[in-house]
Amino acid sequence: MPITLTSRPAADARPVRAVHANGVDGLAGAARKWAEAMRFTGGAGSVLVVPGPEGDATAAYLGLGSRAKNAAHEAATALQFGALAGKLPAGAWSIEADGSAGDATLRALAMRLGGYRFSRYKAGGEESPDEAHAEVFAGDGADIEEANRIADAVFLTRDLINTPTNDLGPAELEHAARALAKEFGADISVITADDLLEMNFPMIHAVGRASASAPRLIDFTWGRVDAPKVTLVGKGVCFDTGGLDIKPSSSMLLMKKDMGGAANVLGLARLVMASGLAVRLRVLIPAVENSISASAFRPGDVLPSRKGKTVEIGNTDAEGRLVLADALALADEESPELMVDMATLTGAARVALGPDVPPFYTADADFAARLAAASIAVADPVWQLPLWQPYAENLASKIADINNVTSDGFAGSITAALFLEGFVEKAKTWAHFDVYGWRPKPSPTGPVGGEAQAIRAIYDVMKQRYGGRS
Ligand code: BES
Ligand code: MG
Ligand code: ZN
Repeated sequence: MPITLTSRPAADARPVRAVHANGVDGLAGAARKWAEAMRFTGGAGSVLVVPGPEGDATAAYLGLGSRAKNAAHEAATALQFGALAGKLPAGAWSIEADGSAGDATLRALAMRLGGYRFSRYKAGGEESPDEAHAEVFAGDGADIEEANRIADAVFLTRDLINTPTNDLGPAELEHAARALAKEFGADISVITADDLLEMNFPMIHAVGRASASAPRLIDFTWGRVDAPKVTLVGKGVCFDTGGLDIKPSSSMLLMKKDMGGAANVLGLARLVMASGLAVRLRVLIPAVENSISASAFRPGDVLPSRKGKTVEIGNTDAEGRLVLADALALADEESPELMVDMATLTGAARVALGPDVPPFYTADADFAARLAAASIAVADPVWQLPLWQPYAENLASKIADINNVTSDGFAGSITAALFLEGFVEKAKTWAHFDVYGWRPKPSPTGPVGGEAQAIRAIYDVMKQRYGGRS
């Protein structure tokens, strides 16, 4: 059952007591007996609902596992509150927890996130608005407006990734961006099909032209024109077959999520606009399907690019960097103060860090340090990997300015980042995130499926820099 956050505890609210492992020793009377009978030991993410004499739920306990030993563990502890979604019966509840259970706003957010379900294709359809909710007061100090804003952004990202390509191709991704732009009064323009050639986006066109849904570049701006320019660029490959270098079926199965960068960027944009940060926001999404037909681009082709460099295609499956390069080149032309791109760019990033921890790349040490700190504070993991310049020579081409893949296959996520770096010149700070965009195992904050990654951490850094309404 989803959780609705309340700003005050209702008069009839029942307590939800957060306990660490072994904290059950402190329980007394009937609650103690019930905990023992149900083998509730306060393990992380375990929930015990306690019935009264009439059989209705009178109290609940949330297990937090062992006591946090550092800030990262404390923030992770707050996420355990997500386990309450789905387990708390309907009606009013009030959290009783101390500082060892983490930040109150993060607890509130976790409770919203844990209630997410993607039910569009299930009998009964979308969640009906009159479905019973548990109404929970998350504790003093919880900023529930902020928690709701963040949850809405994460849900947008998850919904976009979870929607299969037959309902979310390039055209529908454009519709989603238009809907968001309209909601917040942003200006949007879209360059489609052969106009991409006319307007000098040859690589976006080449990657997307084999699809029945035309390639396009989505471009929206929001905020005061004189505010600092922040530009977000997201890989919007709505499906990645690999192109003529076709993927084997096991690798292709999940490729509806290859627009995960775009979905994350739209979630982050929603957050920035909803909280009114003092920025001139720009969002750029090259939206394409890397498909196969007689018009597909080929291995060995040499493509021109917006930036002027020629790119030899060593592998049509390294398509994300091609569409991003043209979008980054455009973004870079107005010298933004901060330019962030997000992309499900390489399998190599998963080999290095697994699905939960997206690597990021930047030459701005101050931004990297702030991001690392924010990542811990808000429990949104990211990890910096180096833009190791000596590897750039592995992208050399015999006949063009650069190849889209390396000759040796080493350090795939780093060399993809170095490829992108070659299309960035003027942005003051550039950061690239190689995200997975998918949660492969259920957790207290969400089921298996599309996942927002790094946007809460990036938003936290942006709030520090650009807090306040624009
Ligand atoms: N979309 C994939 C990367 C990917 C695969 C992300 C699986 C997450 C999970 C990307 O377009 C791709 O195919 N990259 C290739 C690059 C290679 C051809 C240099 C890869 O990672 O294998
Ligand atoms: Mg690919
Ligand atoms: Zn891809």
